[in-house]
Amino acid sequence: MILEKEYTKKVSVTHRKKFAQFFTPEPIAKIMVDWLLKGNDFSTLLEPAFGLGIFSRLILQEKPNIEITSFDVDPVIFETAQSNFHNFTNVKLNLENYLFNDWNNKYDRIICNPPYLKFHDYENTKTLEEIKQRLNFHLSGFTNIYTLFLLKSIYQLNENGRIAYIIPSEFLNSDYGKNIKDYLLKSNLLRHIFIFDFKENVFDNALTTSAILLFAKDNNNQKVNFSTVTNHKELNGITEIINNYPKSSGQISIIKKELNPNIKWRAYYQKQQSKKYKNLISFNNVAKVVRGIATGANDYFTFNIKKAKEHKISEQYLLPCITRSKDVDKSFFTKNDFVNLKGANAKIFLFNGTENPNNINVLNYIEIGKQQEINKKYLTSKRNPWYSIENRPPSPIWVGVFNRSGLKFIRNEAEISNLTTFHCIYPIKTLFSKLNIDLLFAYLLTDVAHQIFNDNRREYGDGLKKFEPNDLNNALMLDLSKLNLETEQRIISLYNNYRNSVLENRNDEKFLNEINKILIKEYEV
Ligand SMILES: C[S@@+](CC[C@H](N)C(=O)[O-])C[C@H]1O[C@@H](n2cnc3c(N)ncnc32)[C@H](O)[C@@H]1O
Repeated sequence: MILEKEYTKKVSVTHRKKFAQFFTPEPIAKIMVDWLLKGNDFSTLLEPAFGLGIFSRLILQEKPNIEITSFDVDPVIFETAQSNFHNFTNVKLNLENYLFNDWNNKYDRIICNPPYLKFHDYENTKTLEEIKQRLNFHLSGFTNIYTLFLLKSIYQLNENGRIAYIIPSEFLNSDYGKNIKDYLLKSNLLRHIFIFDFKENVFDNALTTSAILLFAKDNNNQKVNFSTVTNHKELNGITEIINNYPKSSGQISIIKKELNPNIKWRAYYQKQQSKKYKNLISFNNVAKVVRGIATGANDYFTFNIKKAKEHKISEQYLLPCITRSKDVDKSFFTKNDFVNLKGANAKIFLFNGTENPNNINVLNYIEIGKQQEINKKYLTSKRNPWYSIENRPPSPIWVGVFNRSGLKFIRNEAEISNLTTFHCIYPIKTLFSKLNIDLLFAYLLTDVAHQIFNDNRREYGDGLKKFEPNDLNNALMLDLSKLNLETEQRIISLYNNYRNSVLENRNDEKFLNEINKILIKEYEV
């Protein structure tokens, strides 16, 4: 790092900022170089944003004869680099814009700490056009330049090649990053993401939100591994993972086809969210989550008004019940919503034959069930009588379980039942717990609550079911009883404003953001 230190002393901050010259700390560079050195033998290496060539310097110590090609656009840093590398005939330094040159060459190894420049800080129209043309791929106008470096490098990798990149983790969770993540997944090369979430400022500030991405053009493409690195010591864990590749996994490994490029990938790796907060308690201290009603034969048991008329089943033998999640499109399900669904002939009832099995129409429908052998199905055959439905009182809160974009909590103001598309949440009422349901629900709507729940989400499975009831029961939450009365009332008042906005179809998120801010202020460590 001596070269970089001298350069930093000599050259103005303005100049360095203009070219986004932030230098990779040596311990980090070593780890990235390690990834390149492992694997098959190789002869060519590309450094697309050379600076003073920290990566090449380290690699040359181990492999003095490999052919290195590099790019930098800044004549000032280029001159310094040239004078340092003039003895190396195998290192070719180009004073050229990487993104517009060298498209026809491929390399065995590529390593880079690309410039970080927002769309308005570089010639983004021209550059985006170049990448779009070359890769035949759509990109958002807001794309940061560092992701373009990455896309080009992926394109330039040889068979059995490896790439190590250090870039801000921001694109994983931003809108413009959706296309980039899509490209990364389709490339089949992404193996590991190490996200830095340093508590203390060990390195330069810029690094605290960086990520190291490791790619390999091999056949181990079934999973993508995520690991968060929260302190200096945990860097050793990365080396271990690299040494044991492909047998090693990250803290979380996710089957590639389950990764959704359209959501914030924070949801996949934010293992440590709860560590950010104090006064946490287990969710099951406050509420119990159980799955919704399973009928074992939804076609038979679910009813709309039309079907009820056909079979002459009057409403007293029908249990109001949400049967499909798409019938609930807001965070509040009111009595009015129920009436509307009923009017729209939605399936919002369950056959409740045990209510009066002597009614002739009920008897007839039970008979139809027998004819269709509904009574012999797996779940119904275990019940007595077979047409009875599980005893689950309506729960005041539902949570959506089939939601790709995260948890979806709904306040069941209509007080109706639900099938397994939702889990039921029953607040626990004891002499000692006086938790207000509105306060609990206000909490459940916030990002803080979702982040903490996400610590406990299921990573494997069939791709859609992300939370089993016990994942939630065993998750943590903020202990809301620690709030003083005044803050509690402030939250309830914001919550009422939010509720009104939703019922008036305005969905004013600012009230939720405000509640979120209050919680962060009260509970952040
Ligand atoms: C973040 S620095 C990294 C320097 C060095 N590789 C390191 O890791 O310490 C990025 C470097 O890319 C150079 N750069 C900026 N835009 C570039 C472009 N379009 N093509 C090639 N290099 C570029 C900058 O001048 C700077 O030296």
